[in-house]
Amino acid sequence: MGATRVGIIGAGPAGLMLSHLLHRQGIASVVFERRSRDYVESRVRAGVLEQGSTDLLASTGVGERMIREGLAHDGIKLRFAGEEHRIDFRRLTGKGITVYGQQEVVKDLITQRLADGGEIWFETEATAVEGIEDDDPRIAYRRNGEDATLTCEFVAGCDGSHGVSRTSFPPPRAGEGQGGGVYERSYPFSWLGILGKTPPSSDELIYAYHDRGFALHSMRSPEISRLYLQVDADDTMDAWPEPRIWDELRLRLAERELQPGEIIEAGITPMRSMVTEPMQHGRLFLAGDAAHIVPATGAKGMNLALADVKVLAEALAAWYRSKSRDLLDRYSELCLRRVWRAEHFSAWMTALLHRDPAGDPFDHKLRLSYLRYIVTSEAAATTLAENYVGFENA
Ligand code: FAD
Ligand code: DHB
Repeated sequence: MGATRVGIIGAGPAGLMLSHLLHRQGIASVVFERRSRDYVESRVRAGVLEQGSTDLLASTGVGERMIREGLAHDGIKLRFAGEEHRIDFRRLTGKGITVYGQQEVVKDLITQRLADGGEIWFETEATAVEGIEDDDPRIAYRRNGEDATLTCEFVAGCDGSHGVSRTSFPPPRAGEGQGGGVYERSYPFSWLGILGKTPPSSDELIYAYHDRGFALHSMRSPEISRLYLQVDADDTMDAWPEPRIWDELRLRLAERELQPGEIIEAGITPMRSMVTEPMQHGRLFLAGDAAHIVPATGAKGMNLALADVKVLAEALAAWYRSKSRDLLDRYSELCLRRVWRAEHFSAWMTALLHRDPAGDPFDHKLRLSYLRYIVTSEAAATTLAENYVGFENA
């Protein structure tokens, strides 16, 4: 049975960034990752970084490639009812966003952790977190078919929405219903996402509302486009042969310039909202998707994951400096205001831009009116812009 200071479950953006920030404070950690290095480095997911995230990457020495290869954008386009409108983030908020794939962030963090002698145990599945109310919580894990345990001083559950950490929390006690527990919402549609070998037909992201459903044109490089379609919640890829995907994208995006290309990756992701409150219990702290899920429309998932672990790393550093638990005790409270702002914005963007399968023509007209309000009112456009680029005062 080995030991470390902080046991981190999950080598996604949250777990890797946490271990990097702790290392910079001289705090040892071990990261458990059930998948292989190759798998986590090629898993295609989010792509939009807020200024706070790019600042965190750059100021801690893992932003060099992002600065070189990331695409700086100052706004987005909204398309609906045959019209196109631009929301100018820079003018409205003074800030922009950076388009840089989550898998690139993950690659950069892994490279840095390994160069710094960091311990990332790939293909090692955490099976349980034990003793979270004690001073020596333990992570039970399976590696090469063998079961073992690592004793830690703290455990960070950064294992995403299907991880093991959250299940180690005690169930909420009677009376904790007000402000404690799990808040959830599911949506009656999913996103089909593809990575296509075709040049983006736009220099900015296009969010499109069409009466057939939502579509999004994003990108990864001058040669690679990232594209999404609203599909039914129970759709599988079998229902979406490649020609159908391209036809539907071109129709909903109203984008004749978009040329079909080789599809490098494709998958369907359900849309879900979830918040666990509080995000901590004893010596177990949840961060990122393990603690909260947002529907992808607001591009907040990866940004929230990075923001959580910035707070957690500072709280752990304060503990190791002065044995003060003050910041650790306030971890959840310090994160949840930003989390709920992002939850609201993501649900709002989702409602604004998706066709509700149970909606009626009145609903469709209301949505069009709201979209038109956003593109004609400075106040409404600012609401979208300041939330999209990251609302600092949440
Ligand atoms: P994750 O990146 O999920 O990392 C968790 C890690 O823990 C994984 O590597 C997992 O393998 C590992 N793990 C899980 N259980 C265990 C265990 N028991 N033992 C060891 N390791 C374990 N957000 C957007 O903003 N836009 C998008 O387009 C978008 N697309 C997405 C597509 C998919 C398929 C998914 C699942 C999410 C998407 N998201 C998107 C959300 C965004 O990618 C997440 O918010 C982000 O990955 C959160 O980072 P994380 O580090 O908290 O979790
Ligand atoms: C991307 C993903 C999102 O969820 C979003 O809202 C914008 C862009 C992307 O993968 O590039």
